[in-house]
Amino acid sequence: MRLLILGGTEFVGRALTEEALKRGWETTVFHRGRHAAPPGVTTVLGDRTAENGLAGLAGGEWDAVVDTWAGAPTAVRDAARLLADRAPRYAYISSRSVYRHPCAPGLDESGALVDGSPDAGDVEYPEAKRGGELAAVAAFGDRALLVRAGLILGPWENVGRLLWWLNRMARGGPVLAPGPRDSGIQFVDPRDLAAWTLGAIEQRLGGPYNLVSPRGHATMGELLDACARVTGGRAELRWTAPEKILAAGVEPWTEIPVWIPPGELHDTIHAGGSAKAIASGLRCRPVAETVTDTWTWLQSLPSPAPLRPDIQRTALTPQKEAEILAM
Ligand SMILES: NC(=O)c1ccc[n+]([C@@H]2O[C@H](COP(=O)([O-])OP(=O)(O)OC[C@H]3O[C@@H](n4cnc5c(N)ncnc54)[C@H](OP(=O)(O)O)[C@@H]3O)[C@@H](O)[C@H]2O)c1
Repeated sequence: MRLLILGGTEFVGRALTEEALKRGWETTVFHRGRHAAPPGVTTVLGDRTAENGLAGLAGGEWDAVVDTWAGAPTAVRDAARLLADRAPRYAYISSRSVYRHPCAPGLDESGALVDGSPDAGDVEYPEAKRGGELAAVAAFGDRALLVRAGLILGPWENVGRLLWWLNRMARGGPVLAPGPRDSGIQFVDPRDLAAWTLGAIEQRLGGPYNLVSPRGHATMGELLDACARVTGGRAELRWTAPEKILAAGVEPWTEIPVWIPPGELHDTIHAGGSAKAIASGLRCRPVAETVTDTWTWLQSLPSPAPLRPDIQRTALTPQKEAEILAM
């Protein structure tokens, strides 16, 4: 198999690259060159936001393209148009954000979608992802695979969610653990996403698939217990009722990564339906394995680990955490 990955050097793209290499696929990555590609891949440099930025892809044929783009749909449109006759399949890494909120528990791929346009420039994230999907479909039709990922946690993360929890636990002491402890969380390890995506390409699948663990795969308690354990056991989890945390003005998800209190937003983000992906081969490793491997990887990096510069982070400060715990 000859695979072209648009991106391919960071987080999800890196997991896809590693999985392709593991399978012995001839792998090309297209990126700006700001992050190093792993040994064994062919690199084509270019900037998708620049005029004539795709010039490096003017020639060449592949058996599949995977596009990890998260920004303006026009970038997906231009790449997909350029490659439509030179690759039989195009997998676009989309997101469950394309569904209109709120989502009912168990929502499958038939859920109502936000509006989007392949010709849109910089738009809000949900519209950008939907526009990217439409751009992929416009060029590849039913040869386009739409990988609607849920929350992605695992090695190579550059967002600051699982990494934030690991760093917090490593610091030790009393840790604000947001309840309920048995609240279900859904995520997908980038390595499981990558394995499913390449398998789906082999099976010639097309159309939308929700890519996230089954409901009940993990709980907030299991995630935080694993984080506390692998970082040396210095953290003392103080399980705290959601009402108390919300009363302190804490913003779920952004100030406390991964955490959403029970309610509509929790069902939207942590209770999606992924039966179609599971039936077509998605296997989700246990949360403890994701946490252990991410910690091992994180320790191999300089501290602090480099994170994506384009995301504003507003996670809980140690002072605010201590204040809530003292309340
Ligand atoms: N994080 C989540 O929980 C989550 C959930 C659902 C869906 N998703 C989706 O998952 C995908 C994440 O992909 P990712 O982790 O691979 O993204 P990423 O970490 O942002 O990496 C971007 C990749 O594209 C390259 N790149 C960046 N700007 C470029 C440009 N202007 N021209 C050419 N290449 C460029 C980068 O390499 P260089 O810097 O070397 O150019 C890098 O390889 C996104 O589509 C996102 O919407 C994420």
